[in-house]
Amino acid sequence: MTDSKYFPTFLAGLPSMTDKTVVITGTTSGTGKIAAATVAGLGAKVLVLNRASERSTAAFAELTAAHPDADLYSVECDLQSFDSVRAAAAKVAELSPGGVDVLANNAGVMALADTATGDGYDVQMQTNHLSHFLLTRELMPLLEVAAEARGEARVANHSSVARMAPSKKLQGKYLEANGGNLGGDGSGIQNMVFNGPRWQRYNQSKLANAAFTAALHHRLQSSSSKVKALVAHPGLANTHLQLTSVKEGGMGNMFTNIFMRFSQTPEDGAMGLLSCMCLAGAKSGQFYGPGSGAMAMRGKADPFDLEPFYDNDATRNLLWSKSEAAIGGSFDI
Ligand SMILES: NC(=O)c1ccc[n+]([C@@H]2O[C@H](COP(=O)([O-])OP(=O)(O)OC[C@H]3O[C@@H](n4cnc5c(N)ncnc54)[C@H](OP(=O)(O)O)[C@@H]3O)[C@@H](O)[C@H]2O)c1
Repeated sequence: MTDSKYFPTFLAGLPSMTDKTVVITGTTSGTGKIAAATVAGLGAKVLVLNRASERSTAAFAELTAAHPDADLYSVECDLQSFDSVRAAAAKVAELSPGGVDVLANNAGVMALADTATGDGYDVQMQTNHLSHFLLTRELMPLLEVAAEARGEARVANHSSVARMAPSKKLQGKYLEANGGNLGGDGSGIQNMVFNGPRWQRYNQSKLANAAFTAALHHRLQSSSSKVKALVAHPGLANTHLQLTSVKEGGMGNMFTNIFMRFSQTPEDGAMGLLSCMCLAGAKSGQFYGPGSGAMAMRGKADPFDLEPFYDNDATRNLLWSKSEAAIGGSFDI
């Protein structure tokens, strides 16, 4: 936390999370790791959902060592597999008889090659959005239980400034079973504009995170649910995300080193997500991040409104119908 500019003050202002059950994906590094440790420190029961790996085992050992008195559970969940997500949701239900107060859909990958998951979807879209859509559907009854018992519950999604690039228009083909046929492996970074096919797929997945929030928010409001839908972005945070992209051929090493000079710490980057998860005043339909513009890379997480380029009937309905088709079932609120 040495270089974090805002996190210590932000942390001091967070409320107690005692009596809350928090489910969070992707806690082996980065913003998810910080968010899981933070809510554990605030007294929450925490269920971390990760795919099996040495990173996952080590991160859970670190979490339990840092918070020996906390109620912590590790649940295996590979977001590249719908079956794995369904099994994880069943395990969460078993471990959470009192409901789920916060579902943080945090995990993500960036600029991977044009490959299909075993389910046939783009690896980035399935990991970043479709599996989180399924997880949210499966856990909605538990979110409703918590909301009835304690007045509210929340779904916090994690988007990016990439939601704006380049077209601001969600395209159905990225949500269909077209994995491996979505433009190829070019990275196409020119003059700091990330517009090659690897990035188009990432951008679409991060636009889907925002569109999902908007669609969920409207549906929850229409049914007078006490469950809230919120979304965050971390600006540019120095996490494992970029390392994976470099390793997988999505960004050059030298370029990344220069680019990351503009980044903030993972703790500062986690403030938007933690605001959605914890802040007492956070409202459904709010976006938290270091600004709403395309250059909002660093700074305090402030709330702003969902944006018209995805918060519109056509985009919300496209997102919902394509996501339902992908998971093979309806998601009725
Ligand atoms: N860092 C930034 O500047 C930035 C900017 C905008 C948005 N974001 C968003 O912030 C979120 C968190 O990313 P981060 O920056 O903290 O990156 P990170 O350090 O790479 O963390 C990503 C997490 O997602 C997990 N994950 C990846 N694939 C998975 C799968 N198939 N199943 C389960 N978990 C999986 C990773 O676990 P493994 O160890 O298994 O890989 C890891 O725990 C992402 O949604 C990302 O798009 C980050």
